[in-house]
Amino acid sequence: MDTATTGDLDIPANIAATLVDPVAYADDRIHDSYRWLRANNPLGIARPDKFDPFWVVTKHAHIQAISRQNDLFHNADRPTTLTNQALEERVRRITGGPNLVRSLVQMDAPDHPKYRALTQGWFMPANLGKFEGRIREIARATVQRMLDRGGACDFVEDVALGYPLHVIMEILGVPEADEPRMLKLTQELFGPQDPDTARVRDALSAEQVSVMLQAIIADFSAYFRGITEERRRNPRDDLATVIANAKIGGDYMPEHDQTSYYMIVATAGHDTTSSSTAGAIWALARDPAEFAKVKANPELIPGLVDESIRWMTPVKHFMRSATADTELGGRRIAKGDWLMLCYASGNRDEEVFEDPDRFRSDRKPNRHVAFGYGAHLCLGQYLAKLEMRILFEELLPHLKSLSLDGEVKMTQAYFVSGPKKLPIRFEVN
Ligand code: HEM
Repeated sequence: MDTATTGDLDIPANIAATLVDPVAYADDRIHDSYRWLRANNPLGIARPDKFDPFWVVTKHAHIQAISRQNDLFHNADRPTTLTNQALEERVRRITGGPNLVRSLVQMDAPDHPKYRALTQGWFMPANLGKFEGRIREIARATVQRMLDRGGACDFVEDVALGYPLHVIMEILGVPEADEPRMLKLTQELFGPQDPDTARVRDALSAEQVSVMLQAIIADFSAYFRGITEERRRNPRDDLATVIANAKIGGDYMPEHDQTSYYMIVATAGHDTTSSSTAGAIWALARDPAEFAKVKANPELIPGLVDESIRWMTPVKHFMRSATADTELGGRRIAKGDWLMLCYASGNRDEEVFEDPDRFRSDRKPNRHVAFGYGAHLCLGQYLAKLEMRILFEELLPHLKSLSLDGEVKMTQAYFVSGPKKLPIRFEVN
């Protein structure tokens, strides 16, 4: 990045350090940094130790502007999530490219629209309607298990973690017995810095991380190879059958692309949805007035869903890289520059959201960017919202009161994060 060697574009080292510190995402420090950046340097350059410099995009309008110009800002050319220099170098040695997998997220046109079209229809409301009855059954069983806890539970452990996982596994067509394996692989993949989920717990060298990630991918690959063979022999009415039999230009997808496809569908939807589901209950449990408002007005449930997705913003960032010199917000961005889209900052942008730190189920409009924007806009957004709405429709009528029952703990991760412990007390009607 030769654009800005002068100091005025650079963001202060202490702020840059929080962006690459997983622990800062487990408390409010990351929001303090975002707030400072939006006010003082909304499009600045971070130069943290051990990372290539990157632009830090904290304003809602800039996140949208970059996300909608997919020819100018690519996904595939650099790592799509924050990656240190040593790890990027190691991944390049292994794969010849910056990323270990090649899912929709790591593709650009012309491949991206072709691959996305294979399953887009599956994730549209018209098709998802077919699953609503089954999702409601899963929600009811989940709620019943929580009520059976007798007035107190860890909402993450007992409800939020298992429910979206169960839904996506059903839609995908993975047997229930294999769900714990999928959950573990996802947590290892998405939250590798969190000491509670990491396969290797201490500070890791790039070599160790790449070995760990390759092992996770190999596990996924071995698992889904079996599913592909089975679905080609015996097609069913599930998403795995679509992926297993999909053809690009007349041929089955290359195996690496196929594993990546299964992986993104199997992993993208549950830690994210569980974080925002837990976010909603956290917000209601600490604010009796908000709880009473939603209880009295169930038509606010879709608003509760959207607000918790905004407020929690489980996907904290994705990266893009510039394919040509360009200008944005008065800054000159050079070809090859790497940019961090800070969705969680865009979603607290004072210019777009009134009183942005406040949780309001009746916030309208609520044009958050928690699902991203543009051609890569989350494929699973309707599924996530459907699952959450159904769960709250099933849960809230049973609850007379809701409160926190201990310390809320957050995952330490700069990619996907949210509550990992949410002790609550509740009274049943
Ligand atoms: C992409 C967030 C649930 C599947 C994304 C992106 C974000 C995101 C930020 C990147 C968008 C961009 O680059 O513009 C979330 C959140 C969720 C959620 C916050 C829950 C609250 C789901 C679910 C699925 C899913 C349930 C279902 C499998 C995907 C896929 C992509 C994606 C396949 C890649 C799309 C592409 O690159 O074309 N999601 N997601 N997500 N999400 Fe989600």
